[in-house]
Amino acid sequence: MPWLARGAVLVFALLAASGCGQDASTPSMTAAPLVPDIHSFARPAEARVTHVALDLHADFAARVLQGRATLTFVRRPEATELVLDTRGLEIARVLDSRQQPLAFRLDPAVEHLGQALVIALPASGDQVVVEYRTSPEAAALQWLTPAQTAGRIHPYLYSQGQAILTRTWIPTQDSPGIRQTYEASITVPRPLRVVMSAEMLTADGVDAGDGQRAYRFKMDQPVPPYLIAVAAGDIAFRALGPRTGVYTEPTMLASAASELEDLEKMIGAAESLGGPYRWGRYDVLVLPPSFPFGGMENPRLTFATPTILAGDKSLVALLAHELAHSWSGNLVTNATWSDFWLNEGFTTYFEYRIMEALYGRDRALMLATLGRNGLLREMADLPPADTRLAIDLRGRDPDDGMTSVAYEKGAALVLTIEQAVGRDRFDPWLRGYFNRHAFTSITTQQFVADLQQELIGGDAALRDRLDVTTWIEQPGLPAGAAQVASPAFGQVEAEARRFAQGARAATLDVEGWTPQQWQHLLEQLRPTPLSPAQLKDLDATHRLGDTGNSEILFAWLRVAVARQYAPAVPALERFLTTQGRRKFLKPLYEDLMASAWGQPLARRIYAQARPSYHAVSAQAIDAIVK
Ligand code: BES
Ligand code: ZN
Repeated sequence: MPWLARGAVLVFALLAASGCGQDASTPSMTAAPLVPDIHSFARPAEARVTHVALDLHADFAARVLQGRATLTFVRRPEATELVLDTRGLEIARVLDSRQQPLAFRLDPAVEHLGQALVIALPASGDQVVVEYRTSPEAAALQWLTPAQTAGRIHPYLYSQGQAILTRTWIPTQDSPGIRQTYEASITVPRPLRVVMSAEMLTADGVDAGDGQRAYRFKMDQPVPPYLIAVAAGDIAFRALGPRTGVYTEPTMLASAASELEDLEKMIGAAESLGGPYRWGRYDVLVLPPSFPFGGMENPRLTFATPTILAGDKSLVALLAHELAHSWSGNLVTNATWSDFWLNEGFTTYFEYRIMEALYGRDRALMLATLGRNGLLREMADLPPADTRLAIDLRGRDPDDGMTSVAYEKGAALVLTIEQAVGRDRFDPWLRGYFNRHAFTSITTQQFVADLQQELIGGDAALRDRLDVTTWIEQPGLPAGAAQVASPAFGQVEAEARRFAQGARAATLDVEGWTPQQWQHLLEQLRPTPLSPAQLKDLDATHRLGDTGNSEILFAWLRVAVARQYAPAVPALERFLTTQGRRKFLKPLYEDLMASAWGQPLARRIYAQARPSYHAVSAQAIDAIVK
């Protein structure tokens, strides 16, 4: 039996037993997650964490967070153990709610996953206190020296939890199916400021003696632990609208604020598609350049790379994407990392809809076409099993499943559903989907069940036409996938051909081209055997190495590396040493390592750059360069 069918039977049995739509405010054992998560040691059916209270001190000299996590849990009366996820944590003591020591053990480490922290539960009680400190190498945390910040005076700390890194700084049940509310008090040396993915209770902190200030936060809506995030540094704030604003280092505040000008409008567009924004405020933290992602959808406070500050708002789709996660991902969450496409596929579709509403169909279609082309290129290099939507991650790092398949094949499925029924029917279903599953974590099978019950119903022709099982279980892009093709790219392809055949760069008809068209031109030229003279002409005429648009620069550098074009090496070196986005670093290092020309370059540049990269990027590049 295919696993989907087998899974569906299981889901229905469990749905019946649990009453599904759990009430977030009164956690009980019946609301335990429905499927096992192979990336967590937790045994939530016995005892499940529902609330985390952090009281931590940031020691910048030692590069550790130290303090206590008080965990509230629900349990079966007969449960004897509470099992948490940890990785690299040093556990000092575990106490019960009367501050009496509890027995505990740390099991042997398992690759990717870390160590189970098994706590012996007393006969009654619903809280434990874990006293601990993080390792200076905690993979979620990056401790930056002043020299690695824009201001160069104060140190900086930030966290990145997705997918399974929260366990390197918080001992809790680190599974996306185990939602938890949280509160925190974080102490840092003056004059640093702390921000978190939560409501800020003390905007300016309170004096904690000894030159320290304490910042307090609370998140009353249950979130998966990968969304708990913190940053501390010389961080300033500017309001953008009544519920939006930007945090960043003071020297970047003005440019960040003007780049993010449209944020409030974006929320309006997102709400008309997804229903009311449920998280209160929406702020963006623009991080130092080593942030390993473009953006991370931490609730109430998206974390973003400074490489989106192009100066002309041309990269704001990334914020539309992170904002969309306020519905797909944060409100309705993938239950396991094999269901990651539910987060990213819906979000990518949603991102294109927001962009369409704000900037028009042409721009949205260009973005979708770039995405689709990237998918087709990446799928050609992936093992077929990894081109299924719900992928098998047994024994693997969840990051292995984080390819464009989840994003773009996922978005293609959602778009195909939209086109099969029309927006008049699709949009209410989508809003209903977010409402029916709000504040829960769901599996691919639950998505299929919802689609069947709420949209397809008895329409057998529609069911057969959509054939969702094939989408989910089979490799590749199904033949019935909705087509995506930007008309504005036709002219770009014609110009790319002319240039490849010898036309001078100055004769290309690039009048009025958008940044997306430039990006497309360069992606078209990458496999083309251009001569050094042609590359020189292109760069000199259109100043590609100097562009402020990081996507265009990245696309240009890939063309240059593919042709071993030495004059681009300084720009390449600058790019690889001044920003740490994994998505940009990985392909460039891979391209370099593919040739005898590039290998010494990659090694030399990486030796210099590695100390400035976040662990997430360093781990990926280690595997390529070492
Ligand atoms: N949630 C992801 C970032 C992520 C993915 C973190 C996997 C850890 C593991 C975020 O929403 C994202 O997809 N960011 C993209 C930008 C987006 C426009 C495709 C990125 O960082 O490039
Ligand atoms: Zn995303």
